[in-house]
Amino acid sequence: MTGPDSPPTLVGERVTLCPLRVADIAPLNAIIAQPDVRQWWGTDPTVDDQDAFTIVVDGEIAGWVGWYEETDPDYRHGGMDIFLSPAFHGRGLGREALLVVARWLVGERGHHRLIIDPAAANTRAIRTYTSLGFKPVGVMRRYEQGPDGTWHDGLLMDLLADELSPS
Ligand SMILES: CC(C)(COP(=O)(O)OP(=O)(O)OC[C@H]1O[C@@H](n2cnc3c(N)ncnc32)[C@H](O)[C@@H]1OP(=O)(O)O)[C@@H](O)C(=O)NCCC(=O)NCCS
Repeated sequence: MTGPDSPPTLVGERVTLCPLRVADIAPLNAIIAQPDVRQWWGTDPTVDDQDAFTIVVDGEIAGWVGWYEETDPDYRHGGMDIFLSPAFHGRGLGREALLVVARWLVGERGHHRLIIDPAAANTRAIRTYTSLGFKPVGVMRRYEQGPDGTWHDGLLMDLLADELSPS
């Protein structure tokens, strides 16, 4: 997205979220190729230039947060997706990156509701999203195709603006 509606760079305590640049795509695709990320990514293990932020930590590319908006006024909501390089896992950085983007979607883009849809088996991701205030809506059966080509259940989670964790 370019022009007056372009997303800004978002700054958290430890993460900086830069609107995705073409130059980030190759290093991000190398992160997806790592097994601990690849197992949770679908049949196409790449990102392109969709709406997203590159997660930068200490000047290094650490991961990616994708975001989107449903613009039908009657169903308006925002959504997110994330991966972090395994070298950056387990330090609360994924949680922080999502919190910063969620605050932006609610505060600046005016969304009253956000969704996220991890694989039902991705307990680490579900724990992270729950700690931000997301609640399970229900299991979407055989929702997504995994890297092995089989269909996996997904968990739809949503969050209302006033449920977003304050920190
Ligand atoms: C899912 C993913 C984004 C989570 O990010 P993460 O930074 O590893 O996870 P968190 O931010 O929750 O941190 C993980 C653990 O670090 C701990 N932690 C360490 N330091 C922390 C800090 N300063 N602040 C908060 N948590 C901290 C947390 O307690 C948490 O442990 P717990 O869940 O047992 O309580 C990341 O693991 C990932 O990219 N995985 C592979 C791809 C993937 O699954 N993507 C999701 C697709 S839906």
